[in-house]
Amino acid sequence: MTASKSKLYRDLAAQLAALLAGEADLIANAANTAALIYHGLPDLNWAGFYFRKGAELVLGPFQGKPACVRIPIGRGVCGTSAARAATVLVPDVHDFPGHIACDPNSRSELVVPLIGDGAVLGVLDLDSPLLARFDELDREGCEQLVGLFVDHRRRFPG
Ligand code: SME
Repeated sequence: MTASKSKLYRDLAAQLAALLAGEADLIANAANTAALIYHGLPDLNWAGFYFRKGAELVLGPFQGKPACVRIPIGRGVCGTSAARAATVLVPDVHDFPGHIACDPNSRSELVVPLIGDGAVLGVLDLDSPLLARFDELDREGCEQLVGLFVDHRRRFPG
């Protein structure tokens, strides 16, 4: 399982690099990244971006059901990740005070901040209907995917 999950993230990283290659448009790249992750990782019910605008996170490209549009920095799992500039892994969303339930089916969540030049640009949010869906390999794998996305954006701002 460990080997196959590592391989899955290596394959996704290669596919993401190919998808981003030569394209600078933020919305297009974020949309394809969300689609790649949503369809590439098993047992997700939501995958997508929130981008920071002032003191809020605002919904960006995603796959899944319609979601809350604005999240204050510091609120919910996404806002906590943005405030801490750190990944937040929540095995059971019912145990996370202040979790924002966009979809009542979500049971676990992984949020990775997008950090560029020392600033939080936004977050990547993954939700699952399974309890404890995400582990340390998912954290590492998703941080690597976010790293590719942010580095690409730095080299090709658009
Ligand atoms: N659950 C998130 C809100 C975003 S939705 O899950 C898409 C949170 O607590 O920040």
